[in-house]
Amino acid sequence: MKVTLSIIKADVGGYVGHSDVHPAMLNRAREALAEAKEKGLIIDYCQAKCGDDIALIMTHTKGPDNEDIHRFAWDTFKSITEIAKELGQYGAGQDILTDAFSGNLRGMGPGFAEMEFEERKSEPVICFLADKTEPGSWNFPLYKMFADPFNTAGLVIDPTMHDGFRFEVHDLIEEKKIIFSCPEEIYDMLVFIGAPSRYVIKHVFRKDSDEPVAVTSTQRLFLMAGRYVGKDDPVMAVRCQSGLPAVGEVLEPFAFPYTVAGWMRGSHHGPFMPVGMDWDTPTRFDGPPRVVALGFQLKDGKLVGPRDMFADPSYDNARRRALDIADYYRQHGPFEPHRLPLDEMEYTTMPKVVEKLKDRFIPLSEKERDR
Ligand code: 13P
Ligand code: 13P
Ligand code: MG
Ligand code: MG
Repeated sequence: MKVTLSIIKADVGGYVGHSDVHPAMLNRAREALAEAKEKGLIIDYCQAKCGDDIALIMTHTKGPDNEDIHRFAWDTFKSITEIAKELGQYGAGQDILTDAFSGNLRGMGPGFAEMEFEERKSEPVICFLADKTEPGSWNFPLYKMFADPFNTAGLVIDPTMHDGFRFEVHDLIEEKKIIFSCPEEIYDMLVFIGAPSRYVIKHVFRKDSDEPVAVTSTQRLFLMAGRYVGKDDPVMAVRCQSGLPAVGEVLEPFAFPYTVAGWMRGSHHGPFMPVGMDWDTPTRFDGPPRVVALGFQLKDGKLVGPRDMFADPSYDNARRRALDIADYYRQHGPFEPHRLPLDEMEYTTMPKVVEKLKDRFIPLSEKERDR
């Protein structure tokens, strides 16, 4: 059976500040999902969240970019926004960038990651949700899972994985895409995906099929809104086992709390901390950025789960290290590399300060110039 897995997410109000979602808002999300299932729009659902971002995890048979599914998510986020306003939640409607829905969610604020595939006899899938970061944050772990034999033993010892995978990379600034065939092209690919603020892995494919095995949300809010409205806080879904990385190989990259952009005001680098679903509430300096992992076995489109994959002591060292790295970064205060480089600060509220001071900058005299 061909099934579509859709994760559609939005921040429509934070409780308190940008740290969590109010239970009344989550209830509304669950009610809407239950109703959609009742009506036959979706096969199954799981309502989830990370920090102040609500995720609707849904299965259906309508394919990606489906108008009915996107409209349902849009209407749901709009109605949750009303509750956020009633309860005075912070940034109520933050990711609702426009009023009129016109066919799909592109450019409207919410992020989405969707893939359609033939369900296998057993179909383990992991849904990752992040807060206080950007879509390119999935580049590092996707590379590790599908291209690095030091992470994924199967690339070496499983004959069905030995040929490697294809990666679809999007240039979010020029709106172009390219497919890299790996391992042959890993050096070429790394030139781009090592710059995650611009180049983002959208899909991973097996070499012998056009069916995706991983998908990410690539929406960048500042590119849609033309101003800073909050961080993108992306989602990702990865299929596992039987010719794909094992569940443990998919989770392994997160045992290293690598650095991502998006902490505090979307303007700082920090460690990406893997946490169980009870610990998805970023509070220290609005962070550190974090990721939760919900594991499911799909059966006839039913989401059997979730299992809370990072609620495991084997990630304690990653968390401890993340906190040490957080201390280290925090001591830099407003200095780079804790604060983002200037070209990325353009997408924050900093240009207003620059504008205010622009007339006070005067050219250096002949004597003062060094070249
Ligand atoms: P599969 O090849 O069946 O996915 O098994 C690999 C495995 O689970 C090893 O950890
Ligand atoms: P969110 O993008 O999660 O809303 O956070 C915004 C922010 O400014 C946190 O400091
Ligand atoms: Mg927020
Ligand atoms: Mg958020």
